[in-house]
Amino acid sequence: MNPACVHVLNGPNLSRLGRREPAHYGATTLAELEALCRGWADGLGLDLVFAQCEGEGELVTLIHRAGDQGAGLVLNAAAYTHTSVAVRDAVTAIAIPVVEVHLSNPCARESFRRVNLLEDVVYAGVRGFGIDGYRLALEGLAARLRG
Ligand code: DQA
Repeated sequence: MNPACVHVLNGPNLSRLGRREPAHYGATTLAELEALCRGWADGLGLDLVFAQCEGEGELVTLIHRAGDQGAGLVLNAAAYTHTSVAVRDAVTAIAIPVVEVHLSNPCARESFRRVNLLEDVVYAGVRGFGIDGYRLALEGLAARLRG
């Protein structure tokens, strides 16, 4: 395990950032978000692994990999936040701090987005700040990892 390595994982439909419901998710593409995260991580002295996947099983596998190889995880599980016991169980199956991020504030949207299967098993959460939420999550994790 690399003590400076942080994984940033993005769940389904976040591949379409920039053209998907910009009123909720903004105009920044996933590639641009990755570049921003790399810059923020560099500035914080962190090594970054950045990934996105559409499938629930794939996301579970990536969470396990983060737990095996990383020191911290920034997770936007997207819709699986509201539905997936498997993703929740994956978070509880790893021993590194997980910061949950959402671009929008799900609680201020449809009622089904108020169901959050992750909020009580993550270290911290950031929601509603758009892409800046990823910067805040990385800063928080860096501080946590510094002890
Ligand atoms: C999201 C919020 C979720 O409710 C939604 O399903 C997403 C994106 C966000 O980043 O705001 O796909 O996680």
